[in-house]
Amino acid sequence: MIRIAAPHSIVRIPDIMHDAQPGGASHEEPPALAIRAQGLSKTYRGLGGEAPKKALKAIDLEIPRGSVFGLLGPNGAGKSTFINILAGLVIKSGGMAQVWGHDIDREARAARAAIGVVPQELNIDPFFTPRELLEVQAGLFGVPRAERRTDEILAALSLSDKADAYARSLSGGMRRRLLVAKAIVHDPPVLVLDEPTAGVDVELRRQLWTYVRSLAARGTTVLLTTHYLEEAQELCDRIAIIDRGELVAHDSTEALLRRLDRKELAITVAEELTAVPAEMAELSVELAPPRRLIVRYKPSATRIGDILAAVRAAGLTISDLSTEESDLEDIFLALTGRSVAEGAPDSASAAE
Ligand SMILES: Nc1ncnc2c1ncn2[C@@H]1O[C@H](COP(=O)(O)OP(=O)(O)O)[C@@H](O)[C@H]1O
Ligand SMILES: [Mg+2]
Repeated sequence: MIRIAAPHSIVRIPDIMHDAQPGGASHEEPPALAIRAQGLSKTYRGLGGEAPKKALKAIDLEIPRGSVFGLLGPNGAGKSTFINILAGLVIKSGGMAQVWGHDIDREARAARAAIGVVPQELNIDPFFTPRELLEVQAGLFGVPRAERRTDEILAALSLSDKADAYARSLSGGMRRRLLVAKAIVHDPPVLVLDEPTAGVDVELRRQLWTYVRSLAARGTTVLLTTHYLEEAQELCDRIAIIDRGELVAHDSTEALLRRLDRKELAITVAEELTAVPAEMAELSVELAPPRRLIVRYKPSATRIGDILAAVRAAGLTISDLSTEESDLEDIFLALTGRSVAEGAPDSASAAE
């Protein structure tokens, strides 16, 4: 059973995150870029005679401070590899990366202090309680006892009544929230959520989205990876599309969606048709007999009024209309020739 965190308790988290900076950065000017990667590469060693795996191929990416940034791509695209390098969990093979202006090699500590990662897998030591887990994590990040806010964070994520229960007794939704709590014990200005809603029910998904929005509203930079187009489209103001270790697109969500400039208008008419009327010959029209006309057009060049005028000029009576806009799935398809759900060809079986 998943409890719904009350909105007021959700919005308390950003306060916790921003009025203290254990990383010691509070007096510094915040950087314009939360994340910066240049030529970032990763090749995993092949195990048991397997060929080495190029998971990231020279990625250049800049993530502005304050954005809700979506790293979108099919399973095996390299999303987790990218964020795990930033968090110091995977060692890069080449290139450079900065978190909050700190180079992950030269200023590893400061870089790690600036980022919190909610991992993809729900890996939690079953014999720790949420309170112990947060205390251990705070210790790892060198947060002094006096500055720890274990109870506050637990309350903000609606885990107070489970504070002293073994983690193994927590539901999936509670575990996910506990991982969020764990990611923010050191007040990072950048929060990364790796596939936050993969395998999560609708209720918890909504709850996490609300939570992400509240974080963003208070200025936290949120980076989330997802292979759900809907999630990226709804939540993110900027999106980078990654496929087989390569960046294939990066833009504002709006501009990405505008890019295709393709729209479809389905017109149902009262009359039975056997051919596309001559009055509509200048448009790209397909007849779906007996009564439907599918018009494909570029919104930048054709106005919907002109299409409807052509229908009327043909002496037809419109009984129904519907339009379909291109979405991220179309964009992904146009860029890669595959659908997101198909995944990268060699790792489809590795999907969770
Ligand atoms: N530890 C590892 N050893 C070898 N190959 C790996 C390892 N981790 C990931 N890979 C491979 O690297 C590619 C990218 O993986 P990953 O970054 O997890 O992708 P995503 O998060 O987009 O699903 C995949 O082909 C995956 O099989
Ligand atoms: Mg992943």
